[in-house]
Amino acid sequence: MRLSLRFILPLMLVLAGIAYAVAPLVDQLTLRWFVYDLDSRSSLIANTIQVPLQEQLAVDKKAKIVEFFNRLTQDERLFSVGYCASPTGKILASRSLPPEIRCAALNRWEGPGDHLLPSSQGLLHVTVQPMPSEAAPTGRLVLVHDMSFVTRRSKETKRYVFYLFMGLAVVVSLVTVIIAQLSWRGWMAGMRSLLRGEGLLRQPGVSVPPPNLPEFKPIARDLQRLIRELESDARARDEDQITWTPESLRAILQGELRGEDVIVVSNREPYIHQRRGGRIEVQRPASGLVTALEPIMRACRGTWIAHGSGSADREVVGKHDRVAVPPGNPAYQIRRVWLSAEEEAGYYYGFANEGLWPLCHIAHVRPTFRSGDWTQYVAVNHKFAQAVTSEARSKAPIVLVQDYHLALLPKMIREELPDATIITFWHIPWPNPESFAICPWRDEVLEGMLGSSILGFHTQFHCNNFVDTVDRFLEARVDRESFTVSFGGKLTAVRRYPISIAWPPEDGMLQKTVPDCRSEIRRMNDLPPEHQFGIGVDRLDYTKGIVERFRAIERLLELNPEWIGRFTFVQIAAPTRAGIEEYQHHEAQVRAMVTRINGRFERQGPPTIVLKVEHHEPHEVYEYFRAADLCFVSSLHDGMNLVAKEFVAARDDEHGVLILSQFTGAARELPEALIVNPYDADQCAAALHLALTMPATEQRDRMRLMRGLVAEFNVYRWAGRMLLDAAAMRRRSRLIGKTGRGEA
Ligand code: G6P
Repeated sequence: MRLSLRFILPLMLVLAGIAYAVAPLVDQLTLRWFVYDLDSRSSLIANTIQVPLQEQLAVDKKAKIVEFFNRLTQDERLFSVGYCASPTGKILASRSLPPEIRCAALNRWEGPGDHLLPSSQGLLHVTVQPMPSEAAPTGRLVLVHDMSFVTRRSKETKRYVFYLFMGLAVVVSLVTVIIAQLSWRGWMAGMRSLLRGEGLLRQPGVSVPPPNLPEFKPIARDLQRLIRELESDARARDEDQITWTPESLRAILQGELRGEDVIVVSNREPYIHQRRGGRIEVQRPASGLVTALEPIMRACRGTWIAHGSGSADREVVGKHDRVAVPPGNPAYQIRRVWLSAEEEAGYYYGFANEGLWPLCHIAHVRPTFRSGDWTQYVAVNHKFAQAVTSEARSKAPIVLVQDYHLALLPKMIREELPDATIITFWHIPWPNPESFAICPWRDEVLEGMLGSSILGFHTQFHCNNFVDTVDRFLEARVDRESFTVSFGGKLTAVRRYPISIAWPPEDGMLQKTVPDCRSEIRRMNDLPPEHQFGIGVDRLDYTKGIVERFRAIERLLELNPEWIGRFTFVQIAAPTRAGIEEYQHHEAQVRAMVTRINGRFERQGPPTIVLKVEHHEPHEVYEYFRAADLCFVSSLHDGMNLVAKEFVAARDDEHGVLILSQFTGAARELPEALIVNPYDADQCAAALHLALTMPATEQRDRMRLMRGLVAEFNVYRWAGRMLLDAAAMRRRSRLIGKTGRGEA
């Protein structure tokens, strides 16, 4: 529209100018034509009245002649008529003859030449015709025409000329604008698809095919180079920055993202208010997602939308279901979403945790899919989408969608807020296409996720699996070079962002010294001073390989009986998803195994395995980490596993050994750990023995390297990278938007 006005207005002005310049010429021309007409008319009148006038003159009846002249001037244009018998005589004339016209002055208008007379009555046209008679051989007839009609007509003509030019301007503009719009749209569609990296190929589902024109190539090359420079700028910033801190995150939000609000959405909330007797207690749940995102939210100060699952959650929220956290030192808001028991059963226990969870973790537990669960899953995702829309303070917020509970949310948000930057992070593994195909609603899940601007996984392997799955089941365009998926005309970047933890750890976590922690934990668990002990911290989940871990401990004692009575393993197992049958079986199996192993190796003193099925707050877990000789992470499949990184962060004394399953994302980042296959009990037993006998110097060397990595690749970098990519994406769409500006 603006482009059209920019074009039409000058064109109108130019044509109006031309009309203005042409008008006097038209005036002169019409005047000349009218004068010529009046000359001819005068001759005609003179010829017509010659005979009756000569008859009157012959009888010399002056009164009759004047009356005859007066009758003649009843003609609208004939202003007056006069007759001069001689140049010295007195003029016989009708009533209205102007005083300038006298017999002595008639030469002025005789013959060809200027016949115009400006007078007080306006412009007059005067002709003098010879009218000889016997009595007056030099007699002359004067005919005066009123020319005011010329002025009137000239005005009208000017008006018509002006209308003509304006009409012309409108027609020319419309034709030009229509042609320009058509070619501009085609051109823009081509440019946009090029900028989106879709090349010059036809894209399925896009109504305007990008034109395959050679003239696009140089412009596209320049624009793409510009975008690449902007992106590599951001990447360089990431690489230059060795220490990522809450401040660096805040700087990105203020600078690159222009202070835009951040909204995090997840099922699990970071603080749960529970009623215990007469008191309300605040609990921090055992969740890798919460461990990673909580420090981010403290830094970013946005809103975290999550399911209000605590028994006292409703009691502490304000008018809009919000509560400020952390308690005592509020930095951000939790906006709670309430779910009915039926919704929670179908969405959380059912589709998310009996369907998607075992589907994505290949841990040999069959996924269960029920259509009733799916209905609740869709409905609850809608509920979260509504919460996001109501919390968004701008049309283009940055929304961080978390995990498999909310796979449909990105598409739902995109429909409500098309300009939002939606970063979805999948905290669990993504299986290969064959495994994922089991899900009866696989297409809907994939389409939901592809509403994201950026889709993040912990490892490149999971990114590859996801892209392969999309390629196999959806009509989407997958670009393996840029790792983007184009679906329904929208582009999603699939990226690897290995998650991490806050570095340095939260205040208070390292306050108690390592010797103090050791003596405190030993005292609490009746472990003698020289007794070795290992720690495991997990939710009581079958994917964590707790059964395999205990089997490895049993094998250690079989292969190296010198450890019997000298080694204890403390397993902290946070109760989780207890409503699901598979979890109940798992807990029973774990408990039975502990009883059996402890019975088998029973001696004086502490048991082989201490199982603590109860919730522990983060500072309590850190105390165990700092006190232990080793930490054993034996997940059968894990997206990242932050327990491994937390153990490393807890050991500022550079002691302690980490035994880490090769099936965790963390194993790719921490090769200095003792990497094991949890299904291989002998190998795990050997690793346990190695850990228990590892010299302090080797422990220090390994721990130092691991601590260096976790410090550098901390959670601020994880979030910072995503936000920098989001910022680059927003710049890119602004650029695309700008090249699209000017549309009518
Ligand atoms: C995993 C999931 C998280 C979840 C956590 C705890 O880490 O990726 O989304 O919060 O487990 O599980 P829960 O069911 O208690 O939230």
